Parts: sequence; structure tokens; C-alpha cells
Amino acid sequence: MIKKGIILAGGIGSRMSPLTKAVNKHLLPIYDKPVFFYPLSVLMLSGIKDILIIVNKNQQNQFKKILPNGKNLGIKIAYAEQKKPRGLPDAFLIAEKFIGKENVALILGDNFFYAQSLTKKLKECVKLSKGATVILHPVGNPSSYGVASINKKNKITKIIEKPKKFFSNLAVTGLYFFDNKAIAFSKKLKPSRRNEIEIVDLLNKYKKNNKLTAQFLGRGGAWLDTGSIKDFYDTSAFVSALENRQGLKIACLEEIALNNKWITRKNVEAAIKFYGKCNYSEYLSTLTKKSSK
Ligand code: DAU
Repeated sequence: MIKKGIILAGGIGSRMSPLTKAVNKHLLPIYDKPVFFYPLSVLMLSGIKDILIIVNKNQQNQFKKILPNGKNLGIKIAYAEQKKPRGLPDAFLIAEKFIGKENVALILGDNFFYAQSLTKKLKECVKLSKGATVILHPVGNPSSYGVASINKKNKITKIIEKPKKFFSNLAVTGLYFFDNKAIAFSKKLKPSRRNEIEIVDLLNKYKKNNKLTAQFLGRGGAWLDTGSIKDFYDTSAFVSALENRQGLKIACLEEIALNNKWITRKNVEAAIKFYGKCNYSEYLSTLTKKSSK
């Protein structure tokens, strides 16, 4: 069972410059919340309560202003710094102590997931005891992502980072579940041509040992990577449309914590005070009313 999770929220956000010159991309808004609330909500929905957020040098304080330690959500949040963007598997080297001898989930700080039965699927994924699991989802522009092909038994047959030549429309989303070997494997990775250690090289090590499994969000699910300006605004529009239509928020952290029984109404009231008079607080106050029935 995976009990620990990492959010990788560093990087230079070059595709979003000048917006990201002064501010970490993961603190910018996707509609009504900072970007990193969305991947954090995914880990919380998986039932993971022990989380390490990796940010760039000297950025911890900005994140801590919003989320000091997770106590208000009934979870444990710690921060670590990545000196420079060395690539995604660098997360396992930075988090070696945090992970210890356990298995771990990694989510990229700019990834957005929304799907029917998402929680149920996530709970299946965290059951992992050996190997690694990735979540695949079809996209129209596979050359922008890690891409995998599968056989009839849903087994991954090939996995390549940003392939120039089309071989599959299944992107490898930025949510990964690994056994403890991820640390040892990551230590052996060599930088690629773009001078980063690559997540697909790590995944290929698992594939070689026949230990890589695929999961799927399903056709009704949405996976968005908020890395470019267009994707960023598309994701905001998606959240705005759904939230305003349903009157339910996506990635409301206090709501997830309350549903998981990690916090009580009192914590939600404290959150309302902390956030101040805003739309998010108004939503939180409806939750306190619901749970008082
Ligand atoms: O979004 C899914 C894709 O993410 C996967 O399909 C690819 O296989 C994977 O390589 C990755 O591709 P990107 O080109 O989108 O990665 P990017 O460099 O944009 O970084 C993704 C996130 O991780 C972003 O939130 C910044 C953060 N990051 C990235 C690197 C390289 C770090 O915090 N540190 C890093 O060293």
C-alpha cells in the first residue's frame, strides 16, 4: 500500500514566461485555486496523507503562506528544494530520506485529472506492492508527451518520450506509482540529450523487468497538462464550466479532507477565517452547514 506521495512543483516554466519569471507556475491560478491544489487533491483522493512538495530554491516560503504543514487538512506536508531542473526522476533522489523503505506516488505539479470513479481507480493504484503503474490517456498531440503503446492484454509494449514519429495516441500522464526500487534505478539514470534524467528511462527499467502496468482514466475522463499558456487557459475554462454548472468545486482540499474524515467542521471554519471573504470561503461555509445536519 502506498502511503507517501511527492508533488514535483519546480521547473522554470519556460513555456509560460513572462508569467513565470517572478512566480512559480504552480502558484498561478487555474480558475479559482492555485495550480498545485489540483495534483494535491489527487493524492488526497488516493488516501495519501504524507506528502512532500518539491519546489525551486528559495520558494518554500511562498508555498507555505498557503499551506504551511498540512495540519489544517489533517495531513502531513513537507517541502524540499530542487536546485535546478535535472529531470523528473530527480524527485526520488531529493526525496530519498522522505521515502525511506516505502513505495511512493509521484504527481507532476502541473497535471490536472478529472474522471468518473477517479477515487476508485486511484485507490486501486495505491495498492501497488511491487513494480510501477502509469496512467495512460489518449491525446491528439502525442509528440508533446511521453507515449506508450499497448497490446491486446493492455500490456505496455513500447514507451518513448516525445516521439517525433507517431506510434500511439496514448500519453503517459504525470501520475506514477512506484515501488522502492525507483530510488536505486533513478541513481543509475544518465542525462538525455536535453540534459535531464527522463521518467521514461526509469519506466523502461521497470518494463524490462516485466514490472510495468498500465491503468486508464477512461474515455469520459479529462487529463490536462497545464504546461503551456493555451492548456493553462483551457484548464481554467474547464474548471469554471464544471464548477459553475454543478455548484461543486473541483480540488477543494478541505472538502476532500472532511469527506475522508481527516478534519472536522471546526477546521473548515478555521480555513474560512484564513482565506477571508472570497468565493472559496463561501463554498466552504456550505460544507460546514451540510456536515452539521
Ligand atoms: O505531463 C505529462 C508529461 O510530463 C509526460 O507525458 C512526460 O513523459 C514527462 O516527461 C513530462 O513532460 P513535460 O515536458 O510536460 O515535463 P516538464 O518539463 O514540463 O515538467 C513537468 C512538471 O514537473 C512541471 O510541473 C515542472 C516540474 N519539474 C520538471 C522538471 C524537469 C520539476 O519540478 N523539476 C524538473 O526537474
